[in-house]
Amino acid sequence: MQSFDAVVVGAGAAGLFCAGVAGQRGLRVLLIDHADKLAEKIRISGGGRCNFTNRDAGPAQFLSANPHFCRSALARYTAQDFIALVQRHRIPFHEKHKGQLFCDGSSDEIIAMLLRECEQGAVTRWQPCAVHELRRGAEAFELATDRGPVRAARVVIATGGLSIPKIGASDFGYRIARQFGHRIVETRPALVPLTFDAAAWAPFVPLAGLSLQARVQTGSGKARGEFLEDLLFTHRGLSGPAILQISTYWQPGSPIRLDLAPADDLGARLVAAKNGSHRKLVNELADLLPRRLADTWLASHRELSDRPLPDIRDRDLQQLASALQRWELLPCGSEGYRKAEVTAGGVDTRELSSQSMESRLVPGLHFIGEVVDVTGWLGGYNFQWAWASAAACARALAPA
Ligand code: FDA
Repeated sequence: MQSFDAVVVGAGAAGLFCAGVAGQRGLRVLLIDHADKLAEKIRISGGGRCNFTNRDAGPAQFLSANPHFCRSALARYTAQDFIALVQRHRIPFHEKHKGQLFCDGSSDEIIAMLLRECEQGAVTRWQPCAVHELRRGAEAFELATDRGPVRAARVVIATGGLSIPKIGASDFGYRIARQFGHRIVETRPALVPLTFDAAAWAPFVPLAGLSLQARVQTGSGKARGEFLEDLLFTHRGLSGPAILQISTYWQPGSPIRLDLAPADDLGARLVAAKNGSHRKLVNELADLLPRRLADTWLASHRELSDRPLPDIRDRDLQQLASALQRWELLPCGSEGYRKAEVTAGGVDTRELSSQSMESRLVPGLHFIGEVVDVTGWLGGYNFQWAWASAAACARALAPA
């Protein structure tokens, strides 16, 4: 039976990074992945340019049943640390929006960088290779793999979440966690478009493809989320950064609230426009909102839509404005793991060490990356969690 100091299962963002760091710190590391292609999620991320971190990444942009868990790892391996690595590998990058850093060229450069780091650590990589079983023997863990049995004192589970099953996502990490007695915080698709009942959504279908800035909110108290971002109408519901962000906070059965003109007080603007304007309401509204939205919104209010503005009562204008700026909607679901960028929930962090990502129940077993119940906002935060949790784990595997 082949023997290693550590076996890392899953050669995605977290697994590749962890294997490289641990290898460079002197461990004999085996990295195993069942997918044919290496690190497909990195490749498709950020529209092919990989939003590899966020300059402002900190605990406030992460959700977890145990919100303090991510603090230590994020503080000990920061966005600046990863930026320094990217610069050392001479990968050109740029900032796009709110601290989001993207490759100028392609995501492949990040994958190549992580591979070079693994080579420098003399990491052995088996791919494609499935792991069928993980057992704790008397002295070490034993893994049954496509390429035969393997023994290691340490095992790191870095198999990610459930989103995008067609490129290799599996529930392996959760199954292993359960097998060893860990609890799982219920998983759900996150950073995902939201859908609505077909009949209720029918009036808005003509808006499909329309994008505008909106403020979106859901929840209350500590579970409240609020974002000011672009919103996109689709045939089945809503998407765009505003909705992907709020989807992580959204709980089935609860509403979301939208302000479709966040920079304006629409009521005041319409009432003020009565002085001097004899235009129809629909034309006045089209000065304040995209024309398609004004037309579609007023399509079911013909009695108002074509009336000259001065003929409409202030109260009716205020009511219309309020409907557009406090639009409450009840999603019926989401586009699911097929479209979700990440999986919220996962291995319960109360049974993991925040310093080393090691199981408190099974010494030598570690969980890193998305399989853990730590979910970041859209904008490079999920990769930063992958790097930070991997670094914490690798340092614990091979203390300096
Ligand atoms: P990751 O999913 O990267 O890797 C898991 C690996 O485990 C995979 O290689 C898989 O094949 C392997 N595996 C699974 N089951 C296995 C088994 N049974 N045996 C062996 N191997 C197994 N984030 C961000 O910060 N910026 C961005 O720009 C984007 N963009 C983006 C776009 C899209 C379309 C998606 C779907 C996701 C993103 N993300 C993102 C999220 C980001 O990709 C994600 O959070 C990280 O890749 C998570 O890293 P992990 O290493 O934990 O899992």
